[in-house]
Formats: sequence, structure tokens, C-alpha cells
Amino acid sequence: MSLETENLPSRFVEIKREIVASHPDFQQRLTNAWVDVLEQLDERTNRIIRRGPSYIPQVNFKDLGNLKPEQIDDIKRKGSVVIKDVVDDTEAMSWKTSLDEFVKSNPNVDGFPSNDKQFFELYWTKAQVMARSHPNVLAASSWLNNLYHVKSGVKLDGVDLSVSLSYADRFRIRHPGGYWDRHPPHVDGGSIERWEDPIFRTCFADILNGNWRQHDPYDLEGRLDARTSLYGRPNQSTVFRTFQGWLAMSETAPSQGTLKVFPDVLLSNAYIMMRPFFRPVVSSHSQNPLDAKNWEYDISSPEFQGIYATGGGFAGPRPTPTLHPHLKLDKTMTSVPAVSPGDMVFWHCDVIHAVEEEHTGDGDSAVLYIPAVPLTPQNAEYVQNQRECFLQGKAPPDFPRVQHPEGSFIGIGKQEDVVGRLGREAMGLYVEVA
Ligand SMILES: [Fe+2]
Repeated sequence: MSLETENLPSRFVEIKREIVASHPDFQQRLTNAWVDVLEQLDERTNRIIRRGPSYIPQVNFKDLGNLKPEQIDDIKRKGSVVIKDVVDDTEAMSWKTSLDEFVKSNPNVDGFPSNDKQFFELYWTKAQVMARSHPNVLAASSWLNNLYHVKSGVKLDGVDLSVSLSYADRFRIRHPGGYWDRHPPHVDGGSIERWEDPIFRTCFADILNGNWRQHDPYDLEGRLDARTSLYGRPNQSTVFRTFQGWLAMSETAPSQGTLKVFPDVLLSNAYIMMRPFFRPVVSSHSQNPLDAKNWEYDISSPEFQGIYATGGGFAGPRPTPTLHPHLKLDKTMTSVPAVSPGDMVFWHCDVIHAVEEEHTGDGDSAVLYIPAVPLTPQNAEYVQNQRECFLQGKAPPDFPRVQHPEGSFIGIGKQEDVVGRLGREAMGLYVEVA
């Protein structure tokens, strides 16, 4: 996929002009903030590089209710966390065995690479349905949802952060060896929309005001009505996920095909949002290309670094070392620490993440994608539509149509596999059987 951003429409200049016009003294304030952010990034990126995977917070599921405030602040700032022992090892491993069997019994399943499938376009296998409705998975999700709040204090109708909803996504069983370049550093959940949609933009208002230190990535208000998918591309989530996540079904350590993150959501948000308003005035081969004095305010181009046109819409942000040099992504994209079956990894919806290109281990690296999704009016509506897809054995609404819908496959999950009241509620099934 091309990373060229020069094919962005010229009207994108207007987005910049609109933002400038709606913030008093924009140029001066943003330029001051830019200098400050670059300074902070210099310090923080060096710390991240020094610490490596140990920089990512790790907590045990059973301790979630008793964390110290500074541990919670650390998780919020880094935007990433490993939660150990959410599910028993044996249960998580049994899900992998059942998925291996499912794929063997149904050789027609959609997946890639097509000659040795490892990433599957499957949503409703019994293992996935059971994992999503596991009470500890739902409890972890609701704990993460509750890291969010409403800064202004207004009451948001129809929102309950303690109620977790299920968002059906896929799974991967990655084999050792091979090369995987499908997931370079990127941010999900909205592309140019971050700047273009006036509501989504309010989530970043403090950054665009020049007050990036006040930016709160956990303020719920703008998130709920943000239009993250103005162009209706497939694979663009239309629900609000507080954190994306996965549940490990195998041991997976750094260098074994695991997740990498840029572990500072405050700084990466500030930098990514401000970057389109500045340009370098020296070549990247000059002496101090990162020095703030070698950058200047410029809004003349339609470029939004990391955003590119694709499939009738826009993808990204996909930050790169060339376009976003101050993030030092070659060194700061940090692998999450080793996980065991039943551990979960979560990353805030704005966090830059990637999948390791190589898997040098000797066993499968297997995960079920399970994000944290709170009850909100939009999310509840999605779950209703998703539920119909489940009952019909079709791909969920946010995902591309598959060649072979899974409803007729042997071993597909049924309503009965959604266990417990909370699990049924999360799938929008509770009301019907009450
Ligand atoms: Fe992603």
C-alpha cells in the first residue's frame, strides 16, 4: 500500500484554514506548543528506548480494584497495559485448540496468506463467542472503560461505563518464521476525521488551543458523537472502543510476532495533531533535523502527514520515521512484555501500534482480538445490528463481506454459547430471553 500523501485533495487546505480560524492567535500559540512538545518528546523517547518492554505497565487481573493512583496514572499516560491472568491458562489454551480444529474441519474459511492461513476472517466460532462473554474479560473491559470520565461533568444519556458490550473481531494464529508487513505503526478509529469532523476535533481541542498539557485522552464527551468514519470504508470501526485489546491463547514474547506500541498517548496525540501545521526547513540529512528551530509554521499544503487516500476514503494516521521524525519510531515502537495464555493486552484507541514483522519463536503466537467497549447509545445500536449478523452467521457490520459466510461451518458458535447474564447483555441477547 502506498504511503504517498500527495494525492490528498486540495480541499484539505480548507480544513487547516477552518481550524486556524476557530482558534484565536493560533499560529503563535501552536508554535509555542510545538517547541514544548518537541522538547518533551526528546526526553521521553530516550527514556522509552532505554527501558524497552519493561516500560509497559503490567498488572494482575485480581489486583485491578486495588491499584495505587500512581499506577493508574502511569497506565493512562502510557495508554497501554498488560493484564495478567484474566482467564485460566488451560481455558485460553483450549480455545486455541478448538480454533485449530475449526480451521481444519472447515478448509474453506477466509484468511490470509491464502496458502498458509494465519489471520482469519472469522467472528463467530464457539471459542470467540465464549471468550467475549467470559465474566473476567467483561470485567477487565469495564475497568478500562472506567478510566474514562466526563471532564465537564455533564450527564451523558444512555452511557454506562460499567456495562461492557461485545465487539466481534477476528483472531490470528501466527506461525513461527515468515515476514508480516501488514501492520506497520498506525492509529485506528478515524483518519482525516480527527481534523475534519468538528465533533471528533473537540477531543483534541486543548492541543489545537496550544494547551497540549491539558489534553485529556480519557475525556468521553467528544468521543461519543465523533464521526470516525465519514467515508464509510470497510475495516473502519464505527463503534467507540475505549481500548483495543487482545487475549493471548499462547505464550508470546518480544520478537515472537507480538504487539508494539508507542507508549505515551499524551505526547503522540499532541505531536500527530500538530504535525500538519509545521514543515522542516532543512533536509533530513542536515546536522540537527529535529531541532525546533529547523521547523516552521506552514499551512499552505493539503498534506496531513500519515493520512493517505485509499478505497474511496482515507486511511491512517500511519506515522512514519520520515514524516514524524521526532517520534523516533524505529526505536520507540516498544514490544509488549512476554504474555502467557489468558493474559490480555490493551491499548488506548489513540495509541500508535504495530505488529512485529518477524516471529523468531518456535510456537504459534495466537490471540483473539477483544476490545473494551462501553454501553453508549451508538454502541448499543451497533450491537443490535451485530447480533443479527451473529444469528445469521454473517460478518459483523463494520467488516468486509467474506467469500464464505461462516454460518454453515462446522462448530460455529450458537446463542447457547454466550454464557451468563452479562455475556448475553454484552451481545444484545439478554432482553429477548428475559
Ligand atoms: Fe490497528
